[in-house]
Amino acid sequence: MQKKYQIITFGCQMNERDSEYIAGTLETLGYQKTEKIQDADVVFLNTCCIREKAENKALSLLGEIRKIKKINKDLIIGVAGCMTQQEGKAKKMKGDMKYVDIILGTHNLHELERMLNLVLQGKGQQVSVWESEGDVVEGMSDSQAYPFKSLINVVYGCNNFCTYCIVPYVRGRERSREPESIVKEITKKASEGVKEVMLLGQNVNSYGKDFKTRSYQFSELIRDLQDVEGLERIRYMTSHPRDFNDSLIEAIAASAKVTDQFHLPVQSGSNAILKRMNRGYTREYYLELVKKIKKIRPEAALTTDIIVGFPGETEKDFEETIELVKSVGFASAFTFMYSPRKGTPAFDFTDQVPLADKKRRIQELNRLVSELELKYNKNLENHVLKCLIEGKYKEDGKLIGKTSGYRSVVLEGDDSLIGQIVDVKIYQTGKQLLGKLA
Ligand code: 5AD
Ligand code: SF4
Repeated sequence: MQKKYQIITFGCQMNERDSEYIAGTLETLGYQKTEKIQDADVVFLNTCCIREKAENKALSLLGEIRKIKKINKDLIIGVAGCMTQQEGKAKKMKGDMKYVDIILGTHNLHELERMLNLVLQGKGQQVSVWESEGDVVEGMSDSQAYPFKSLINVVYGCNNFCTYCIVPYVRGRERSREPESIVKEITKKASEGVKEVMLLGQNVNSYGKDFKTRSYQFSELIRDLQDVEGLERIRYMTSHPRDFNDSLIEAIAASAKVTDQFHLPVQSGSNAILKRMNRGYTREYYLELVKKIKKIRPEAALTTDIIVGFPGETEKDFEETIELVKSVGFASAFTFMYSPRKGTPAFDFTDQVPLADKKRRIQELNRLVSELELKYNKNLENHVLKCLIEGKYKEDGKLIGKTSGYRSVVLEGDDSLIGQIVDVKIYQTGKQLLGKLA
């Protein structure tokens, strides 16, 4: 009987990509993917710890999987991702969670095969997390979620230390992949049918800053990817507004392949809060950047991340966020209530905002974001947009595709369109864009 695996992924695209590597390793070892935990011989949880809620979700699922292991005693349970890298966590898990067979750190994926073999040989629980990041590992097997679009790591880690954020502690310092490796990987994928890539980094605009013997920046990578045959769309995630320099703006302006999606996390509209967050820019700078982007790409879909209730945030600070959001006119936004993360500077700030205020603020913000989203969508009515058809929309036979601005469009069409970029006329808007083949 063929052995089966399941991977459950929490968090960001970085984790999604890591899960593709875990899947790739397991498939190389003869395991086949299943969607049912009950059928699995190996189940991996790829965890996130950016907010307390993400952590709790993973822990409660782990509890459920433990129950399944009581029935299926041979089930191998793996925990990967950011949670394993929190200070003291791996050690604690090792002691408290004997039922977890593999604890795999964020830069230890290449050790999975060895660890799994040891577990299969009955050598007991295996733990490998990093203490210093080590070199970038190239050439791991992957199993892509889609045949026509790929996530591509360009820079690992983060050097920014925003005062609320756990990422620099669990993903380490910035380490860029060599441009040649990236171009080679993308060229190979494009020759196999990949039309769209998403270049990944906690801060893609920092790409190359850590090179010691050469000078090469993100804008150059964008330029060097223009000539990759078959590659039609280039996305990137996430940009730090501070590092979105003019050279990048020029490279994007010169490229028909770079999409209209501009995800620029602003976090707050108040200069006092931005300063305390250690973001390194002001609201005026951010608004200026938005202007520059709109100038080169009038169709830009600007999206953002916003935290409400950061320590010390007053009503006035919050109103400044509201004003900024209105004035940019975001196409959508991810909004979060500040969640204190142990080990980060803001955890120890004494002026924490009461939960009731956070809730009220996020509700007000979400109302505004929904209005802006409707307005943005309304403007797309009767436009013909290029969409990459990604798959089936739920179970009702329709298809779902993504515009250049990364807006989802639902349309009628044949399954053979999946993986194609086609012209779609938007005929109805609202929360969901509806279109038909043009
Ligand atoms: N609390 C709430 N939101 C957070 N984010 C990061 N850390 C925290 C935190 N401690 C948000 C930021 C970031 C997004 C990925 O998650 O907005 O851009
Ligand atoms: Fe976290 Fe800031 Fe780094 Fe983004 S840039 S991962 S918010 S520390």
